[in-house]
Amino acid sequence: MFACRPKLTFYSGSLIVVSAILLLLAACSSNGGNHKFTVAFSQCTGGDDWRRTMSTEMKRELSFHPEIEFIYSDAEANSEKQIAQIREMMKAGIDLLIVTPNEVEPLTPIIGEVYESGIPVILVDRQINSRKFTVHIGASNFEVGQNAGSYAAALLKGKGRILEIAGLPAGASPPIDRHNGFIDIISHYPGMQLVGKFYSAGEEERQLLRDSTIDLIYAQNDFMAREAYEICKKLGIEKRVKIIGIDGLSIPGAGMEMVDKGIIAATVLYPTGGQEAIRTAVDILEHKPVLAEQELLTTIIDSTNIRITRLQNEKVTAQQADIDRRQRKIEEQELIRRNQSRIIWSVSFVLLLSLILGLVLFYALRNNRKISRRLAAKNAEIELQRNQLIELGQQAREANEEKVNFFTSISHELRTPLTLILGPADEIMAHPRLPVSVRSQLGLMKKNAMRLLRLVNELMDFRKIEQSKMKIRAAEQDITAFVTDITHAFAAVVAKKKISFEVKSQVEGLKVWFDVNMLDKILFNLLSNAVKYTGEYGFIHVVINRIEGEMVSVRVEDSGVGMEPETMEHAFDLFYQGEDGRNK
Ligand code: FRU
Repeated sequence: MFACRPKLTFYSGSLIVVSAILLLLAACSSNGGNHKFTVAFSQCTGGDDWRRTMSTEMKRELSFHPEIEFIYSDAEANSEKQIAQIREMMKAGIDLLIVTPNEVEPLTPIIGEVYESGIPVILVDRQINSRKFTVHIGASNFEVGQNAGSYAAALLKGKGRILEIAGLPAGASPPIDRHNGFIDIISHYPGMQLVGKFYSAGEEERQLLRDSTIDLIYAQNDFMAREAYEICKKLGIEKRVKIIGIDGLSIPGAGMEMVDKGIIAATVLYPTGGQEAIRTAVDILEHKPVLAEQELLTTIIDSTNIRITRLQNEKVTAQQADIDRRQRKIEEQELIRRNQSRIIWSVSFVLLLSLILGLVLFYALRNNRKISRRLAAKNAEIELQRNQLIELGQQAREANEEKVNFFTSISHELRTPLTLILGPADEIMAHPRLPVSVRSQLGLMKKNAMRLLRLVNELMDFRKIEQSKMKIRAAEQDITAFVTDITHAFAAVVAKKKISFEVKSQVEGLKVWFDVNMLDKILFNLLSNAVKYTGEYGFIHVVINRIEGEMVSVRVEDSGVGMEPETMEHAFDLFYQGEDGRNK
């Protein structure tokens, strides 16, 4: 029962740990990890409406492709930064690169490098100086320029002064192509004159607008067209100067609205290609055939078609909003489904865990019961043995009792004949003319009879000790005289063995309280042993010292063999005999 407890804790502990790990794994696998492809998009700059519209289109299309992990970076119109960002993306390990190169020359090598490393490249909007890319998506900027040129020629009836505001940076492909396309058309009209080309509506253009008669401004995007309009308004020439912009975004305040409000004469539609870029990326990744050059359509939007274009656009925007709403709903549902499946997983897992725990518990309890049964059997066995021991002890005590009783009664019986032997022996010895040999024989008889009597008395004393009936009968006596008197009994034997036998007392004449009989027996026993085990020419000293007050110590010292420590431990055990066979 007790041995099983730690086992149980160990099982449950490890099961809890295992379950926590599995739950974590389940959570991780349902969180992410289902992306199949990584598509990187390097945008030359993200800070204007046209590029934001491009990103929105991309995101909308991406929401249909959860298998794609999308990485976005904004080079903030800095070619070096864009090169570094593309290099980073390449290192991170991407499956496809979409890029709008900030400038033609600086970006051509790195894009070629990516393409040659085996990563498909989609160029959007802007071009590079080589064919090292997979697909180009975008409207023809040359055509955009031509559209603007044709519209300007029609507006000015082939005659007038034109100011061009080109997009930045100058090294990008759209400003160059848009300019060339425009020139391509107006060069056919000798009456049309490009009086200036600038890259922003700055102080110089203001001056030019102030000083000369400008009939038309060709702005390479709608944002710059608005700036040009603001300047004309300030100069009070906004009614006379016609403005053509590019982009034609449908969002509030952008190109279409400007045309509708008559702020600008026209805008050339320049689609972003965001949606097409993602669709093409998916096709490439799925190894479907794609067109290497995907030219997007462009057209002029002016007062004649703005209404219908805006209407159509609003419809498309509304439909897109609807699609977005549905998409969000689908995403919500997907989230709910994923959460539900996670809960189902967790619940099933907990159930499984409980089942395993239940089984472990069941086996542990079964084991416990087995151990308890075994322990109970062992207990019963021990109990039985204990009872047997008690019984044996009882029997031993009874046997001992009988033995002692026997010895006591024998002793009683022996005392009378012994006194009867000693009495006549004393009387005979008192006779003055007893032959020497008889006297000595008689002395021997008396000595042995006395020894027998002492043994008998000891047996009876033993009985008394057993029954705690042995009382101390103390009297005040001279201890040194008493001890010295006892030593006289050993005088003959020590003289024979040439033993130096002395009583050394510090308390001559001192009277102390003691039981004469008991001390006699103790000393007699000690001295008998000392004499017995002390060799010839040895010594026996009885040393009497004062301890404190009326207490004295009596010590027997000898040059005998002494006792082993283990023998010493049993010195007071009844009838114990050491290994050397000495009596205690
Ligand atoms: C925005 C923009 C657009 C233009 C395009 C050309 O950054 O200037 O207005 O049509 O880039 O790359």
